[in-house]
Amino acid sequence: MGASTHDEYIPLFETKQAKGRTAFRLFSSSIFAGIALIWIYRLIYMPKSGDSLRLAWIMLFGAEVWFSLYWFLTLSVRWNRIHRSTFKSRLSQRYEHKLPGVDIFVCTADPTIEPPLMVINTILSLMAYDYPSEKLSVYLSDDGGSVLTFYALLEASYFSKHWLPYCRKFNIEPRSPAAYFSTISNSVSKSTEFLSIKKLYDEMELNIETATKLGRIPNEVRTQHKGFSEWDSVSSPRDHQTIVQILIDGRVPNALDTEGCTLPTLVYLSREKRPNYHHNFKAGAMNALIRVSSNVSDGPVILNVDCDMYSNNSESVRDALCFLMDEQKGHEIAFVQYPQCFTNVTENDIYGSLLRTISKVELGGMDGYGGPPYIGTGCFHRRETLCGEKYVKGRKFEWKIGFKRKEGSVIELEETSKMLANCIYEKGTQWGNEIGLKYDCPVEDVITGLLIQCRGWISVFFYPEREGFLGVPPNTLLQTLVQHKRWSEGDFQILLSKYGPLTNGLGRMKIGHQMAYCVYLLWAPNCLATLFFLIVPPLHLLKGVPIFPKVSCQWFLPFAYVIIAANSYSLFEFIVSGGTLKGWWNEQRIWLFKREASYLFGFIETMLKLLGFAKSAFDITAKVVDPDVSQRYEKEIMEFGASSPMFTIIATLAMLNLFSLIGGLKRVITDLEGWTLLESLFLQVLLSSIVILINLPVYQGMFFRNDMGRIPSLVTIKSTVSAILLCMIYSIVLESNVHLLYLN
Ligand SMILES: *[C@@H]1O[C@H](CO)[C@@H](O)[C@H](O)[C@H]1NC(C)=O
Ligand SMILES: *[C@@H]1O[C@H](CO)[C@@H](O)[C@H](O)[C@H]1NC(C)=O
Repeated sequence: MGASTHDEYIPLFETKQAKGRTAFRLFSSSIFAGIALIWIYRLIYMPKSGDSLRLAWIMLFGAEVWFSLYWFLTLSVRWNRIHRSTFKSRLSQRYEHKLPGVDIFVCTADPTIEPPLMVINTILSLMAYDYPSEKLSVYLSDDGGSVLTFYALLEASYFSKHWLPYCRKFNIEPRSPAAYFSTISNSVSKSTEFLSIKKLYDEMELNIETATKLGRIPNEVRTQHKGFSEWDSVSSPRDHQTIVQILIDGRVPNALDTEGCTLPTLVYLSREKRPNYHHNFKAGAMNALIRVSSNVSDGPVILNVDCDMYSNNSESVRDALCFLMDEQKGHEIAFVQYPQCFTNVTENDIYGSLLRTISKVELGGMDGYGGPPYIGTGCFHRRETLCGEKYVKGRKFEWKIGFKRKEGSVIELEETSKMLANCIYEKGTQWGNEIGLKYDCPVEDVITGLLIQCRGWISVFFYPEREGFLGVPPNTLLQTLVQHKRWSEGDFQILLSKYGPLTNGLGRMKIGHQMAYCVYLLWAPNCLATLFFLIVPPLHLLKGVPIFPKVSCQWFLPFAYVIIAANSYSLFEFIVSGGTLKGWWNEQRIWLFKREASYLFGFIETMLKLLGFAKSAFDITAKVVDPDVSQRYEKEIMEFGASSPMFTIIATLAMLNLFSLIGGLKRVITDLEGWTLLESLFLQVLLSSIVILINLPVYQGMFFRNDMGRIPSLVTIKSTVSAILLCMIYSIVLESNVHLLYLN
């Protein structure tokens, strides 16, 4: 009997089904019925050939079919939602002395866009994880090859000797010094320990900021560390040798903090860059990190964090290990993905940066089918799976117990590591293909995660009570739109490639999982149906031509039901996920803008690339903040400012709907049978009115603002003229046949 209780399996994590799944399924079925009726209506009342309305009718039907199918896909991320929770005390009881090594990768690319002070705050928060320090190694990959970043990291390595004991002693959260100090209000009285650590931080901040302002390192500092001499032979960020500097070597006894405890290993890497070698952006940096870390610490678990995302929860490593080390289910899990969360977002989140429903609802839904995608930050991987290993059923992982570091002095390790990050190292190997992160895709993370899942692994989504990682959200409209352009473009390329869920995933992934991926991979082509809805019904409204059923007709009901039900559900979901009513409205606006601009450009660029006209580029989103811009952000005033073609399109469509509504209403008023006309144009009037209400900040930006964040006059002129032209062209095309319709 004793044996049987001993064998009993007590899991390290728990999976629960989300509440209300049955209600959701019934509700969606009713929407489905409404959609079916709409299709029937469109087919029955299709205008005869020769009718001028036929083309518009067919196109509108096409757009409705697209939206229906897309809606059907979005069911997949809601159908089978689950939540996960962990039991960290069990992990600790069973494995406290056998915990695996964890290698943490942080990538930065440009010291002006990603200030070194922000980067080291992230690094310090990660070094301060509640985890045995000798098993923790933090690597910074600096693709900017900047001596300022190196200097900041060196300063951070000194500061960590005081910071880590302080975090342990007072068990503080969050452990990013800047974020922690900002939570302490000025009025409370402070301990001497607080004052002294704050003083040290302020000194470090001052040193780093002074160096950043000067653009160089003070001479007396240069002699402090041998690493600085590497920059004697750096000619530019795009042309230099590999630099590897182990700033803290966690193996050696002198790497101790002020309390005599070991410090985590800390490594600076700037891989070799040469003008005639393609460096493959972030994927290239990650692959260099994988190799260099395998030579230095070789932790079996890899955590990847963006340099602007500090750790808000010092227990994240332990949470992730509850999944990976679970004796029964852990062996099939390749990675544990945390949601991307943000700090400093205004109450109503005007740019929809939180992606609230994606992280609160949809990713948990994907988890029900085989796992969330890898989203490039806040993700714990097994080293093997990231390096291309296939899942073998029944195979168990043996965690490397104890901590056998590579032998050799720091200098030797640095020398042997350098080779691994040279340009020529990957030549003729499978790196960037079968091994490591996949190259040649603007969303290297998503495609890499997908490949891992196609090799048989599952992934896990974990939304802890206290958010694991917090980043800085984009705080202008353009940043948001550009970021989404890259995402939608990359996602669409994956769908069309041979690595997509419908190609490579065929037979390897569950159908629900394939559909769930398509929700994101189809973002870009989604623009077409939306554009169609924003152009055709309003132009017909302008001419007084109805293309939806009239209010008194029984076919009006399915339209009304689908519109009301779908939007109420979306609002409900948003509020339940912690949002506000105004936040939801803002999210609808961003939904529209993304489709009008980001996805359209993403779509066009993908098509051009397919035809061989364009090449990849990688836009980093700026993380430095102009004080004026951030003031407007805090007041939730939309930031335009730049003369981007994206704004021209958005403004054109806003003007087009405005003209159409005015023109349509004028017809209704002057028409003898005004009410009947209004009744048959009702849905078009409603559509344009909502579009106009959503676009209010656009009209404001065009005509009623004079700060720097307004829409530039040139954009206003261009878009107004384009809208007028569109109306005129369409009138001419329609003119010839419209009167026929009236006669009928
Ligand atoms: C971050 O951690 C703090 C505790 O340190 C917690 O109060 C907060 O809810 C967490 N999340 C965010 C978004 O700040
Ligand atoms: C967050 O907002 C506060 C006050 O608005 C500001 O001082 C701080 O720098 C911001 N933090 C980040 C990371 O942008």
